[in-house]
Amino acid sequence: MMDINGKTKILGVIGDPIEHTLSPIIHNTLSRIKGINAVYVPIHVEEDIAAAVKGLYASGVCGLNITVPYKQQVMESIVDIDALAEKIGAVNTLVPDKDGYKGYNTDMPGLKRAIESNGVSLSGRKAIVIGAGGAARAVCVMLEEYGAEEIYLLNRTIEKAEAIASELSKVKALTLSDYKDIPDGKYLMFQCTSLGLKSGDGLAIDDDDFYKKADYGYDLIYNPAETPFIKKLNILGIRNDNGLTMLLYQGIIAYEYWFKVDITQPEADMVLTELRKALYGKNIVLTGYMGCGKSTIGKKLAERLGMTFIDTDEEIVRREGKSINDIFAESKEDGFRKIETEVLRSLAYYGADNTDQVSTGKGLVIATGGGIVLKKENMPLLKTAGKVFYLKADAETTFNRVKGDDSRPLLSAESQEELKERIVNMLRERKGYYELTADEQIDTDNKSIEEVVEEIISRLYD
Ligand code: ATR
Repeated sequence: MMDINGKTKILGVIGDPIEHTLSPIIHNTLSRIKGINAVYVPIHVEEDIAAAVKGLYASGVCGLNITVPYKQQVMESIVDIDALAEKIGAVNTLVPDKDGYKGYNTDMPGLKRAIESNGVSLSGRKAIVIGAGGAARAVCVMLEEYGAEEIYLLNRTIEKAEAIASELSKVKALTLSDYKDIPDGKYLMFQCTSLGLKSGDGLAIDDDDFYKKADYGYDLIYNPAETPFIKKLNILGIRNDNGLTMLLYQGIIAYEYWFKVDITQPEADMVLTELRKALYGKNIVLTGYMGCGKSTIGKKLAERLGMTFIDTDEEIVRREGKSINDIFAESKEDGFRKIETEVLRSLAYYGADNTDQVSTGKGLVIATGGGIVLKKENMPLLKTAGKVFYLKADAETTFNRVKGDDSRPLLSAESQEELKERIVNMLRERKGYYELTADEQIDTDNKSIEEVVEEIISRLYD
């Protein structure tokens, strides 16, 4: 965070309770990225929201978010209200105006921007909304507002769905068991029930054919990362996202109001990475020369910690549909390194996109290719991707581990002696790079796989 000094501006979020808020991560990261001298703090208001808002305005607080339970009540303490916030009937953002704050709602524009950031547009689309609580109502308002054509609203208690349908023109209410009445087509699907918050929760509707009507799904729940709904869509290969991006973009839009700046997509992605790290745990990145045991150790580690294992080389083969040897033959080492950087970037910023590797929500163990440290631009990406462990092995150990392997293009050698010499040279050349990128260095020479795994776990939070 920036140094706090006499010119630091104050921002904050009012709620009750407030201690688990993730919003400080969003706004303080944005201030760091933008070089703006501001600090964002949680403000616990237990009773008099009107007095708090008045006092904060008088104190020159230059931006506020409002969360549960004050999003409606705060409307009595503002001097002006944005039209959309009025329509939604809730305010989550206050911007200083003459004589008081003006109220906005950035939740629904935030959800819209989250969906658009996935390359999906709302206009002209048909949608299915599951659930009929406050969240579902807001989603229906958003869908109508941004041009969705037809909205099927499914709820266990039909009266609640009917109440929403009576207020909005495009919404048709159905009970859960009537889901088969929804005509075939490609729908946007929104999961707005509380199912998934508790472990052991199931699906509101347990029929694959229902979910196959979606070509995109969004679950408003973001903790846990993988609800039964998200898991189902992952298994069926249907694109999806969760409420963490809605949280992100409601914050970003508020920040844009406060400081009249534009937050770009790469900047938003950086903030998302910070949110994911805070919420789902940090990824573990393993580096080191080939043969140091990155894959074997990585798989064991992932199993022990309930994380998802990814090998960047395997990821490259999967994405390109070609073997590493073929990529080297066609595009030389340069071409390979370019693809490797792209894979690393997407893992660092987006996590795994491979639907075979259903995310456990506990982060990734990423085993990297031996040469990944050689490219300067990979260094910050490795750090962003997670905590970097350099697995050290000497030339002798490495030689013994890799000698029978002909799938490694950089190791093709005429004789065993030549191979050994190559390894010695490569190790010498790369050692400094491995050390420079590492958060932790682990000797593997005389240790079993289990011992290395234990040592990594014990140093995870150092
Ligand atoms: P929010 O304000 O976050 O939307 P809410 O108003 O409590 O939360 O709404 C919870 C939603 O989850 C409701 O649609 C609820 O269905 P009912 O209206 O029939 O209660 C839905 N929900 C909760 N538990 C459910 C379950 N076991 N099966 C199906 N729907 C469930």
